[in-house]
Amino acid sequence: MALLKIARMGNPVLRSRAAAIDDPGASWVRRLVDDMVETMEDAGGTGLAAPQVHMPWRLVVFRVGPERLTDLPGDTEQQLTVLINPVIERIGHECALDWEGCLSVPGLRGVVPRHLRIRYRGRGLDGGTIERDAAGFHARVVQHECDHLDGILYPQRMTDHRLLAFVEELQRHPIDLAAFLAEQAPR
Ligand code: NI
Repeated sequence: MALLKIARMGNPVLRSRAAAIDDPGASWVRRLVDDMVETMEDAGGTGLAAPQVHMPWRLVVFRVGPERLTDLPGDTEQQLTVLINPVIERIGHECALDWEGCLSVPGLRGVVPRHLRIRYRGRGLDGGTIERDAAGFHARVVQHECDHLDGILYPQRMTDHRLLAFVEELQRHPIDLAAFLAEQAPR
């Protein structure tokens, strides 16, 4: 096991489209996953995609803790999940805005629109199929991580860049997102 170097925004590996993994059971995939999990946990991340550690393959790891769950069905805690060659299908058209951060964009947070409900499918390390319906924060995490596989970072998904801020500044000057959005809404 080893800690891997995390690519930061501006590194071309984060803009490229990652390649599919032909054999999810290959030993190099298992070693990469072990290192990605160790790297994610060391950095305190919720998820990590292989391109973020300079490995342009369609592979993400994540876990969903209890902190930011909503009451939506499908927004439930998820144990450490390894998804190989994931595909996302949105369910319905509803979107939600909420804060995101990224280990490749250190020190910043931004408000990003995401589909509220999705179904995702991929292979696990054992080669078996994983298919889940997700909503809310769970759905957000998966959409964020899978975007990395298509060379997209969350700032590129943002619709209002006034809501991109340094974590340190947000601690000093918190933004009440609901109030901010209410102010923007047409009267
Ligand atoms: Ni990220």
